[in-house]
Amino acid sequence: MITIQKATLEHVEGIAKVCIDSYWATYAELVPSTYINRMINEFYTPERIISEVTTTSSQWNGWIVAVDDGNVVGAGAGGMISENHGELFVLYLDPQRRKEGIGSMLLDAITKELMKYGAKEQWVSVTKGNDKGIPFYEAKGFHFIHEQDEYGVVEGENFKALRYHRFLMRGE
Ligand SMILES: CC(C)(COP(=O)(O)OP(=O)(O)OC[C@H]1O[C@@H](n2cnc3c(N)ncnc32)[C@H](O)[C@@H]1OP(=O)(O)O)[C@@H](O)C(=O)NCCC(=O)NCCS
Repeated sequence: MITIQKATLEHVEGIAKVCIDSYWATYAELVPSTYINRMINEFYTPERIISEVTTTSSQWNGWIVAVDDGNVVGAGAGGMISENHGELFVLYLDPQRRKEGIGSMLLDAITKELMKYGAKEQWVSVTKGNDKGIPFYEAKGFHFIHEQDEYGVVEGENFKALRYHRFLMRGE
């Protein structure tokens, strides 16, 4: 059975593994491996994830994990970016476990928490061309708003991120 829960220190290794595996599976054909390695080294080190699990706030609500038989099979997190606007900052699954509804369960849990913090609207950034992510968000009622430089690009890297948005209703 899959459980959706707030992550604790016992999930740190599983979060890193799922995010790193999913990063390669999602982006290897979209962006250079130098960029993927740079992002992995910035975001998915044990040190960083330990602090993100132990320190939460309205701007970083903490990791939420999907756990199956003791293994982390998905992980995500959100936070507030203004008084009424929340953001889904990250959402990745074990690449073997896509399209079982686990992403929906994680998104729902993250969104519920954002709504407790007052979110009435929600944002997410998706890499342009990410056909493993964009159809999911569109199925969840997000709409494309605008294009911007991808996070952390350096000179010579010109790939783009798409900002998607949806309104949140009470009871959704
Ligand atoms: C995006 C992701 C988290 C979605 O989780 P998931 O468990 O695969 O999605 P679900 O099974 O909950 O799917 C929910 C809905 O989205 C649709 N969907 C999901 N991925 C889809 C795809 N690639 N193409 C078409 N539809 C898709 C499903 O058909 C389903 O629709 P339904 O409710 O009408 O049946 C997961 O696929 C993933 O890890 N992708 C790679 C990493 C990634 O891109 N993360 C987002 C970075 S911003």
